[in-house]
Amino acid sequence: MSEEMKREAAAMALSDVRSGMRLGLGTGSTARHFVDLLGERVRDGLDVLCVPTSEATDRQARDLGIPLSDLDTLDRLDLTVDGADEIDARMNLIKGGGGALLREKIVAAASDRMIVIADASKLVDTLGRFPLPVEVNRFGLGATERAVQVVLSVHGAEGQLKLRRTAAGEPFVTDGGHLILDAFFGRISQPEALSTALLDIPGVVQHGLFLNMCNKAYVAGPDGVRTLV
Ligand code: 5RP
Repeated sequence: MSEEMKREAAAMALSDVRSGMRLGLGTGSTARHFVDLLGERVRDGLDVLCVPTSEATDRQARDLGIPLSDLDTLDRLDLTVDGADEIDARMNLIKGGGGALLREKIVAAASDRMIVIADASKLVDTLGRFPLPVEVNRFGLGATERAVQVVLSVHGAEGQLKLRRTAAGEPFVTDGGHLILDAFFGRISQPEALSTALLDIPGVVQHGLFLNMCNKAYVAGPDGVRTLV
């Protein structure tokens, strides 16, 4: 899908932003468009205070002069705008393709509302075509991997777990210093039960299932932007 479509979805989300709001800023190529557009509005006088969900978004927002804060200082946020790797009919999500899922989930959970911006390729009937990212502590990686594998088998995963690597072949390290295991399901039929089972594993820090967190989605396709509520 084109960058133009991602930008159209991002522009729609900007219409939900009001002066005085406290915003969570997502991560990824679609969220990047939103931050760019927000930067233009801030230059024109829009008054917002934002919490970024990654070091990359933090750098982008700083370069654009967007005022930043954090969740130690701010109690709640009004709205988070973020991308997604998959969106199902109930607006449950898979996120973390960019590796920022932990901060993204912390920020979304601290927000009164979450708006997802995406292109139409992200819409699915059932979550699981996109590999589910599971963020894990480095300590005891083998033990955690085996425990996650057991959960995968119980939940009907189609493929193996893969330690995420960079283009150079090194293990991918998140902003929090953790590793990511990508879990190939094909189809996740019981996302709530899977979420609980994964979080019960001590070495699992967080996973990319965002259940009942998204309030609205702007999904851009060749015929324009659809609003899902
Ligand atoms: C990063 C994410 C992103 O929001 C997700 O991967 C979508 O990215 P893009 O807009 O580049 O397709 O969850 O951790």
